[in-house]
Amino acid sequence: MQCLPESRKKQSEENCVVWSRGVYLNNETEQEMQFFIDTADLEEISAANELGVLDGVTTNPSLVAKIVRDPDHFTYADFKAHIAKICEIVDGPVSAEVTTLTADEMIAQGEELASIDENVVVKCPLTLDGLKAMRALSGNGIRVNATLVFSATQAILAAKAGASYVSPFVGRLDDISTEGMGLVRQIVTVYENYGYPTEVLVASIRHPQHVVEAALAGADVATIPYKVISQLAKHPLTDSGLERFMKDASIFGKE
Ligand code: E4P
Repeated sequence: MQCLPESRKKQSEENCVVWSRGVYLNNETEQEMQFFIDTADLEEISAANELGVLDGVTTNPSLVAKIVRDPDHFTYADFKAHIAKICEIVDGPVSAEVTTLTADEMIAQGEELASIDENVVVKCPLTLDGLKAMRALSGNGIRVNATLVFSATQAILAAKAGASYVSPFVGRLDDISTEGMGLVRQIVTVYENYGYPTEVLVASIRHPQHVVEAALAGADVATIPYKVISQLAKHPLTDSGLERFMKDASIFGKE
């Protein structure tokens, strides 16, 4: 029998043994790893969605700014309309980030963003004001993604504030010579120790190995740029093997 990291085990209401994706589970059901796409680009979101492996989307102000063609005329209403379009494409959580700094403003903006679609998850930064906003929003039944998380202490606070997701930024930590995935492993262990329901969403992913390591650490979600999603499927032996199969299949002729 294979073992699952504790964090990957979710309590089942049914007291039975189930077979799920190659893993026998006693009294537990496994929640499969979720893949979100990390972009605000509608074409990339549609392309990833068509692959049939997409569970959600994360955006941030920088990702939105990247797709704006006319920044001088892009309004907050345009931003909300863009989030609504993403929600039309993907049937899953769509993170939209607040762009204010005080708790009261974040709460008001978070409520507005959440009213766009039931799938909107409000992203709040892990600051003291952000924590107050997270507590208020989650208390009102609005799902929150704690963003810009760079330490286990911040992750504990996010869980205590009722965040649905915590987003450790692995790539940005790697950039400053600190092992980002080490933080993910710490958070998974700490949440497991106390049974916090907050899902670990690995953000700032830069390459396929980050995805593999996130899966090995038992993270709940990886949010992945489109380029890296494409790289996940690539292997030179697949390409050369396919080329050979196609060449050999040419002797079959045509009907
Ligand atoms: C997603 O939620 C984060 O905002 C994003 O992954 C950050 O990625 P970056 O560090 O590549 O900007």
